[in-house]
Amino acid sequence: MLSIMTIVGARPQFIKAAAVSRRINAAYADVIDERIVHTGQHYDHNMSEVFFEELQIPKPALNLEIKGGSHGKSTGAMLAALEESMIASRPDGVMVYGDTNSTLAGALAAAKLHIPVFHVEAGLRSYNRKMPEEVNRILTDHISDLLFCPSQASRDILKGEGVEKGVHVVGDVMFDVVRHYGDALEGRDFGFKEPFALMTAHRAENTDDPARLGGILDGAAQTGMPVVFPIHPRTKNVLAQSGLALPDNVNAIEPLPYLDLLATLKACAVALTDSGGLQKEAFYMGKPCVTLRDETEWTELVDLGVNRVVGCDAGAISQAVKDMTGAPMPQAAPYGDGDAAGRILAEIAAFLKA
Ligand code: UD1
Repeated sequence: MLSIMTIVGARPQFIKAAAVSRRINAAYADVIDERIVHTGQHYDHNMSEVFFEELQIPKPALNLEIKGGSHGKSTGAMLAALEESMIASRPDGVMVYGDTNSTLAGALAAAKLHIPVFHVEAGLRSYNRKMPEEVNRILTDHISDLLFCPSQASRDILKGEGVEKGVHVVGDVMFDVVRHYGDALEGRDFGFKEPFALMTAHRAENTDDPARLGGILDGAAQTGMPVVFPIHPRTKNVLAQSGLALPDNVNAIEPLPYLDLLATLKACAVALTDSGGLQKEAFYMGKPCVTLRDETEWTELVDLGVNRVVGCDAGAISQAVKDMTGAPMPQAAPYGDGDAAGRILAEIAAFLKA
């Protein structure tokens, strides 16, 4: 048996890990023994447990319960605790996802113990080093042994940085999840009858700058359409402290469980977001996206004309919403065929047996 330690901590990682765990249980149960370690980075029931339940992710073998705190403090605490856990269980490989502080801590702990690191969602870049995620990704990619890219563009980026060994284009594991649950969305009705926009905003560069957050809210107001706004705890805290008021057309709701989020995307007219995952999920659900950032890692969607990157200027946001609503959605598959997890596990099995 090959033992793999999977490190998760934040909401998007639960979704990505779900695709791979499901595939392990379906096809590799006799070959791979997966042990999930949750850093505790996301801890509210509706940010964490609900994803494990709904996506049938095996319960974490260990939850480090490292909640909140500054970047250095929380990443450092994760690093120390993960190292201890890796020394105790000596996995054959460590799997990390995406670009959060949990990703970096897991990769760094493993690399220093000479345990092979497998990075899912490798090679993405925003070229904005002010984003904590950009720093996390660059460092993680450069200490990984197997790098799983969602597209050819991400492989080319790694090549440009001199990283060529162990790089595989496998597609997007989030597409695996969307394909798996597509049918389960039928019949979910949230009672939104008019055309509405779905908005999310949680990135530090937006929430921690009142001018940017204010621009996003003004932009939402100027769209003139109902805006459903599942609100991330970080954003909720900032709004409570800043005194910024929500416009009347913005309906703030609790973070949505995953299948409800997909169903809401399917029902909406347009998505507005600063999330990386939601930009792709909007496309998978056949909806255009207005990205509330100054750059995106998912450039294929911009090239296809289904995503417009507008930043936080209210006028630019509302204009893009008008332009993009009802935009034709091309039949294209920039991020693989929905079996990224199968390719990832085949490569890992070959690597560890070699
Ligand atoms: C993290 C990731 C980001 C990812 C996002 C998904 C980093 C650097 N960022 O950002 O890339 O897109 O997750 O959601 O790792 N909080 C709660 N309850 C929770 C989770 C968080 O109250 O369940 C609070 C935290 O205590 C903190 C704030 O929300 O004060 C932000 O959480 P944090 O984990 O630091 O980063 P995210 O903004 O969620």
